[in-house]
Amino acid sequence: MSYTHTKIWTVDKNKKTLPSDPSIVEAADYIKRGEVVAFPTETVYGLGADASSREAVNKIFAAKGRPGDNPLIVHIADYPHLDNLNVQVDDVERRLMEAFWPGPLTIVLHGIFPVSANVTAGLDTLAVRMPDHPVALALIKASGKALAAPSANLSGRPSPTKASHVTFDLDRRIAGVVDGGETGYGLESTVVEWKDGVCWILRPGGVTKEQIEKLLPDTPVRNEAGSSQEAPKSPGTKYRHYAPDTPLFLIEESRIMNEVRRARKQGKKTGVLSSSESYKDLAEEADFCLDMGSVHTPEVFSSRLYSALREADEHRLDVLFCPVFEETEMGAALMNRLKKAAEEPAAE
Ligand code: TXA
Ligand code: MG
Repeated sequence: MSYTHTKIWTVDKNKKTLPSDPSIVEAADYIKRGEVVAFPTETVYGLGADASSREAVNKIFAAKGRPGDNPLIVHIADYPHLDNLNVQVDDVERRLMEAFWPGPLTIVLHGIFPVSANVTAGLDTLAVRMPDHPVALALIKASGKALAAPSANLSGRPSPTKASHVTFDLDRRIAGVVDGGETGYGLESTVVEWKDGVCWILRPGGVTKEQIEKLLPDTPVRNEAGSSQEAPKSPGTKYRHYAPDTPLFLIEESRIMNEVRRARKQGKKTGVLSSSESYKDLAEEADFCLDMGSVHTPEVFSSRLYSALREADEHRLDVLFCPVFEETEMGAALMNRLKKAAEEPAAE
């Protein structure tokens, strides 16, 4: 579908009366009429539509160019919304919700849900999350709908952390964008599934494995990747996500300077996503260099990552270097996304 114009509503996320704000009310009307509207969350921008409408949800897949077998997360604003979804909630799941909602945790749940079948891509589970962002919560409340919402990027592009990223990818492919400023975490939510006595992390994100282990000391918490074949799979993980156009190389920070020099000798246009500690030296040597925060703050690096990948693409570099992080706390989610951005495209 093509629109002559994508409407932009600029809202102040700190405004007290957001749910009755005329911009939010109008954006919610678009959703009630079956249109898709992008909105900010605390992770990345989402592309929302009424989860009970097949036609509206189809517009999400069409706008993104997303494969139909990759299910969507349903976003809710409060617990009555969760009850309406008719999902089964066991003790472990209840504790996860109480500890981390609203927040960057998506929980895969069982039940017989009143959502359109294209939301779950035919799976018998439903992924649900309550975002911690006043604009997202206000929009969901004002629409009175549970919102199916993937990240608001073209399929295969980095997720958007600013409204301008959304319009770059989806201008005139969607009805509107609520611009509530930059998102916070900058990486997508953690996706978990409680199954067979194990809390599986299907996708690492803003809620860390360490935080979940602390909450559930008697429950095994395992990463889906690298575990047994029986582990539940998050269908989206088989696609190459978060892909910059520029070849990305992950190397030890101490080796980056040598690699930049070598690449430049070969006539290559080089870029670096640098730590603050190395920024001054590397910025002198490389054609393009961004200060991504200290090596000791992977959460700051994460919040800047997708924007940096988009910026790097605009410079048409031949190579982009990035340091590796220890895969603990937020470093786990960061390395997961960096490895996906660096790997070769999957066969499908
Ligand atoms: O932070 C986020 O989660 C953002 C914001 C907008 O909320 N959303 C997001 O959605 O990242 P998306 O569609 O880009 O990623 C959703 C992931 C995919 O990997 C998908 O396969 C997985 O969640 N997923 C959705 N439903 C699932 C289910 N029933 N079982 C297992 N995985 C599921
Ligand atoms: Mg996505």
